[in-house]
Amino acid sequence: MIIAIGSDHAGYEGEPPYKPEILRHVARLGHQTLDCGTHGPESVDYPDFANAVCEAILEGRARYGILVCGTGIGVSIAANRHSGIRAATCATKDMARLSREHNDANVICLGRRILSLPACFDLIQIWLDTPFNGGERHCRRIKKMG
Ligand code: RB5
Repeated sequence: MIIAIGSDHAGYEGEPPYKPEILRHVARLGHQTLDCGTHGPESVDYPDFANAVCEAILEGRARYGILVCGTGIGVSIAANRHSGIRAATCATKDMARLSREHNDANVICLGRRILSLPACFDLIQIWLDTPFNGGERHCRRIKKMG
């Protein structure tokens, strides 16, 4: 699968910076990555990178997206303004699993200042490995969101 990955400058905070590590981790899991920026620690605006990831998905250039900001909240608010995007801020393994099983989330949002890097790796792997449950009630609810 092609996974679009983006972050604001929070993805480049600390050592090691999360975004390049996440790009490598997703490639190690056997996926292609599409790097939607940012590319360094200079302060930028998270909606720009959320928009780039969402556009890649909506234009068919990527199947799923991973977004990183300080909390995972800003990028999820920005991503969820796009019709057809279901972005989930996840901080636990259950949130990652259930956002796929029940919500058919197509973007996972992670907080650099909330989660350790190994925790991000775990959540990404669970999220990418978990299929949508496909149950009638879940489809009905998703359909109500357009
Ligand atoms: C940037 O400092 C920070 O506000 C941003 O990464 C994010 O956490 C916003 O929700």
